[in-house]
This record gives sequence, structure tokens and C-alpha cells, in this order.
Amino acid sequence: MNTIKFESDKIYGFVEKECVAGYLPKANAAMEQVKNGTCKGNDFLGWVNLPSSITEETLNDIVETANNLRARTNVVVVIGIGGSYLGAKAVIEALSNSFAYYDNAPMKVLFAGHNIGEDYYHELVSYLADKEFGICVISKSGTTTEPAIGFRLLKELLEAKVGKEEAGKRIVAITDESKGALRTLANNEGYKTFVIPDNVGGRFSVLTPVGLLPIAIAGFDIKAFVKGAKDMEEYCLNTPDNIAVQYAACRNALNDKGYGVEVLANFNHKLHYVTEWWKQLYGESEGKDGQGIFPAGCDFTTDLHSMGQYIQDGVRMLMETVISVENPNYKVLIPTDTDNLDKLNFLAGKNVDYVNKMAELGTQLAHVDGGVPNMRIVMPNISEQTIGELLYFFELGCGISGTMCDINTFDQPGVEAYKKNMFALLDKPGYEEESKAIRAKLNK
Ligand code: PA5
Repeated sequence: MNTIKFESDKIYGFVEKECVAGYLPKANAAMEQVKNGTCKGNDFLGWVNLPSSITEETLNDIVETANNLRARTNVVVVIGIGGSYLGAKAVIEALSNSFAYYDNAPMKVLFAGHNIGEDYYHELVSYLADKEFGICVISKSGTTTEPAIGFRLLKELLEAKVGKEEAGKRIVAITDESKGALRTLANNEGYKTFVIPDNVGGRFSVLTPVGLLPIAIAGFDIKAFVKGAKDMEEYCLNTPDNIAVQYAACRNALNDKGYGVEVLANFNHKLHYVTEWWKQLYGESEGKDGQGIFPAGCDFTTDLHSMGQYIQDGVRMLMETVISVENPNYKVLIPTDTDNLDKLNFLAGKNVDYVNKMAELGTQLAHVDGGVPNMRIVMPNISEQTIGELLYFFELGCGISGTMCDINTFDQPGVEAYKKNMFALLDKPGYEEESKAIRAKLNK
């Protein structure tokens, strides 16, 4: 059973209830199109039934591979970018002890291939020099420049450190079944591989080995995570007006009223990368054909001391969706202080989370008063189950939202523009004409 709730009562001062209700039939119809495979981009709908279709055998293979890496190493570097990075990062950060990296955690999962920072690589290579490390390299296309550079660097380091044979046992590749340079390399080197299904795009791939293997390497229960997603799949796909439909209807109604930026805010730092994952999911899916809600993110209360001013008082184009976690996993009480110089003894004996919740409520009231329509997604706690539910909810909400706008939610033609220019500037073989053209443009 899914446990996540969606609340939208704080948008009705900005858009009439009847108006939002008017969007529900369209949202339900879009959900049926996504479910039945009749929406635009329907060759990329493999994610819709992933939670219910992933087999026990695949899950066991992933767990066994993770355990093998955990036995041979104490650091695994996950190499990937975009959809081949953010899902795993989001789940691992949400579930991890925030300070695990500062002491002797049994297994560290680090990330590379998601940037081309020379200093980052210098620091990473220096850090790994005396570590027993392994690599999980992920690229659906198998040709993306950023992870390919990262993999070159770390493969060379690993082979030099432990020899080619042992390195081959510590490298796992997740890529296309037959195409791409990574597939060829993995086959040539005899690496353990997992396949990203053809019909699942990168940003919808967290419930494939792309997300599941790194999460399992980090020591989390991927079966519980998949079960959470499956519960949400079963609930949503069998329930008209479900919460993903409601979310899609509300945000589209608000967008059409001129609220073109959605700020996803959390009051729990562990969810920072869930927001980063959501930004990619919605930005890459909806930002096309001159339309789309701009996805922005904030961590509260931290960002109330920076972005809070703009949200309260800036251009009135913002809607806010708050992810609220009902129960922390641990209890910390505020102590009494005999001097009471900070005048906080009125809070002594109260949970830290009580203060956080009052900050959350106070913020909601202030932002609504300031002209920001507010939606809430409430999860009972942070666990594998609830994160699984949350991510599937967002994926379906995205599929419905994009389909309501009659776009292909599942492609990303716009991301090719920078690559073409970068390859031209780097004089990549095959880009001779583009190189000439871009140099002429720069010299004008
Ligand atoms: O969502 C997407 O499809 C993209 O963000 C890709 O995941 C990203 O560009 C990485 O691509 P690849 O996995 O082919 O290296």
C-alpha cells in the first residue's frame, strides 16, 4: 500500500477549485495514454511497469553483484551523468548517514563522470590511490563524453594498481544490450554487465540496474525500494484521480495561470538530491517546444536564508511544492541551558523536528500570504519503501504532465546542441564542417 499523500488546498486562493477540477479529466486521460502506450514518445514507456515486472532473479543478480564488489573493495566509484547518475545519488543520499563519509563506513559510494572538472579528478585519483576500489560504469548510449573520460582515468588507475585481471573483476558496466562503445569494451574485457532496456530513458531508469546496483552497493535494500515503487504503480494505475493525476492537474492549472516556475522544497537535507533528480526528470521532459514549467529546488530552512527573500517577495511566477517528512527516524531533544543566553529554554525538552515542523508550517503560511501557491507531498518517513513510492509518483506525474501538454515527454533533443558545439571546438573527427563554422562565428 502506498503511504505518500498529496495536498493541494493551499493553491485555491490562486486558481479556482472548479478550474483545477476541469484539468482532472485531461490528466486522467493522459494517464490512460501513458498506461496504454498511446501517448507521444510511447517507445520509451518501459518505466511504467518496471516495478511490477522486475524479476526476483534480476534483483538477486544485482544483490549478488553488489555483494561481490563489497567483498573485494571498500570504495566503489559510480561513473555516469544525468539519468545514469542522479537516481542512484538521490536514493543513496536520502538513506545514508550524513556523516558516513567522515568515519570508517564499511563501503563508500563515490560518483564521477558527472562533470569534467580537472581538479575533481585530481582529488579523486589522489584519494583512490591507496584505496581498494571498484568501478560501476553506467551509460545507456555508451558514448557520452563525460563518463567516458572518467572511466578512462579510473580504469587506467585501477589496472595499474591491481592488474588487469583483478580490475576486470572489480568493474561492472551498465549499458545497452548490443550498441555503443561501452558495450564493445565490456564484451572485449569480459566485465560483468547489466542492460538498460531500450524502452527506458535515462531519467526514468532509477528502477533498472542503473539505480539499483549502486543502491545495493551502498548497502540498501533494493527489494524494499522496488516494493515501494510497485505499491505506487499498482495504486496509481488502478485509481482514477490518483495523487499523480492530481499533482499533474494542479501544476498545469497553475502554469496556465502564469505560475511558470515550480520550486520543489524539502525540510530535510537528505532529500537534496531527490530534488536534483526531480529537476532533471521534469526539466528534460517538459522543457521543449517553447513550453514547460521551469523546475527549481530549495533546501529549507537553509535556503530560507537565501532564496527565501525572492520566494516571499520577488516576481510572482512561483508555485511551491514541499516534500514533508512526517517522522524523523531518530529523536534528538533540545537541551536546557542554565544561562539561557539564547533565550531558547522555552524549547527545552522539545524535539528538533518539532521546531522544523513549525518552521515548515510558518513558511507555508508566509509564502501563501506572499502570493505563492503551495502544494505538499507528505511522506511518513524516509525509508527504501517511501523513497520508492516517491520516485515512482514523480515519474508518473511527469509522464501525465507532459502528455497533457501534448509533447514527447521522453526525448531530449535540446541536449545535443552543446555537444555539437563542444565536439566542433575540440576538433573531433567527423565534425570538420562544424569546426570551421563555429570558428568563423567566434572570429566575427
Ligand atoms: O535522461 C536522459 O536520457 C539523459 O539525461 C541521459 O541519462 C544522460 O545524458 C546520460 O546518457 P547516457 O546514459 O547515454 O550516458
